Amino acid sequence: MSDRSSNQMWGGRFAAGPDAIMEAINASIGFDQRMAAQDIAGSRAHAAMLAAQGIISDKDAEAIREGLLTVLSEIEGGAFHFSTALEDIHMNVEARLKEIIGEPAGRLHTGRSRNDQVATDFKLWVRDQLDAADAGLVALIRALLDQAEAGAEWVMPGFTHLQTAQPVTWGHHMMAYVEMFGRDLSRVRDARARMNESPLGAAALAGTSFPIDREMTAEALGFDRPAANSLDAVSDRDFALEFLSVASICAMHLSRFAEELVIWSSAQFRFVTLSDRFSTGSSIMPQKKNPDAAELIRAKVGRIFGANTALMMVMKGLPLAYSKDMQEDKEQVFDAADNWMLALAAMEGMVKDMTANRESLAAAAGSGFSTATDLADWLVRVLGMPFRDAHHVTGSLVAMAESKGCDLPDLSLEDMQSVHAEITNDVFDVLGVENSVNSRTSYGGTAPSQVRVQIARWKKELG
Ligand code: ARG
Repeated sequence: MSDRSSNQMWGGRFAAGPDAIMEAINASIGFDQRMAAQDIAGSRAHAAMLAAQGIISDKDAEAIREGLLTVLSEIEGGAFHFSTALEDIHMNVEARLKEIIGEPAGRLHTGRSRNDQVATDFKLWVRDQLDAADAGLVALIRALLDQAEAGAEWVMPGFTHLQTAQPVTWGHHMMAYVEMFGRDLSRVRDARARMNESPLGAAALAGTSFPIDREMTAEALGFDRPAANSLDAVSDRDFALEFLSVASICAMHLSRFAEELVIWSSAQFRFVTLSDRFSTGSSIMPQKKNPDAAELIRAKVGRIFGANTALMMVMKGLPLAYSKDMQEDKEQVFDAADNWMLALAAMEGMVKDMTANRESLAAAAGSGFSTATDLADWLVRVLGMPFRDAHHVTGSLVAMAESKGCDLPDLSLEDMQSVHAEITNDVFDVLGVENSVNSRTSYGGTAPSQVRVQIARWKKELG
């Protein structure tokens, strides 16, 4: 048994050390070292509380505090040796603390267990990531607002079924994503508020007989309150699942926008030009400029959804309280968090740099009989026709234009009157795309005036 084996921590009743395979399946240090800063923050709060409550001496608490700071700087400086035999970050830190300060290190674990310790560390880590997602979403929303403001009145085709439906404005389309990412932002904030209860002091599962002060450690770690049930506190991973669910929904939004960018940047569409900084070339086809960042964002959704499903499966059916299964929570969350943050930053960069091609957007806006609904509405409004009849008349006119190979505004008044005699020249006013978008002033509609109302609201909201 090596001097630094985990048996030092829990091996009192063991006659033999673990098999190498046991060690390999058991150890989490390969990944949970990412929670080192959180682990040390938790231990510092715990030690200070133990001293304040007279459970350990001030002298020991001070030695622990200083020792933990040394450990932290060793880890941050890359000088720390992580040992698989010591299983996880908690025991690696404590063992090193013992090497540095000796006997007082053994008092740190009073009134605490690795079960409440890991729940605390992981919560702190996830909370930091929610804050990072918050900042990433705000930055992305701001970039979208800038795009929306610049092109509030630029016309483009709006699609349903990816078929031209009605003209919309570029600003309106950008603002649709602002709404989506805005909901993601509010989910991030809800999740943060709900998860912000401290598990520390729940101990192994039942609480402790030491006179600990859980309010004090909760406050020191920025939690709103201690978690109210010790069994739940050590067995709860809802905060990680909520993080992954929020990330999944946001990633789904990112993938939809990424897909539009892939389509829009194609030679067939030319709606946007992505910057060189967020595109790549082909090693064989010199003309190519590929939207790789958008494609990768579209793809990364898979691993984020996967992480969410994987952790759901890990937690499903687990009896209370802690089970080692729960050690499988971290890698999923780490990977999802890394890729979510990267996708948010890449999307922000692409949106900031991309140029909307106003002329291509406008040309496409007028094609595909996009103002057919405006024509039908005119027949209702001016001629008093029931909408269903107007729909039918307009359909005939679309068929006529299609057979002539032209768009609706290219039909002559005689053509129009051959389908419905009462149509007058005024109809041509509503067949222009600018007219079409300007007329859609209902709340939340595509008219530039409405788009500007929403831009102003969001700017005020973000401050
Ligand atoms: N490495 C463990 C984890 O990530 C820490 C908690 C271990 N607790 C225990 N009783 N073995 O979940």
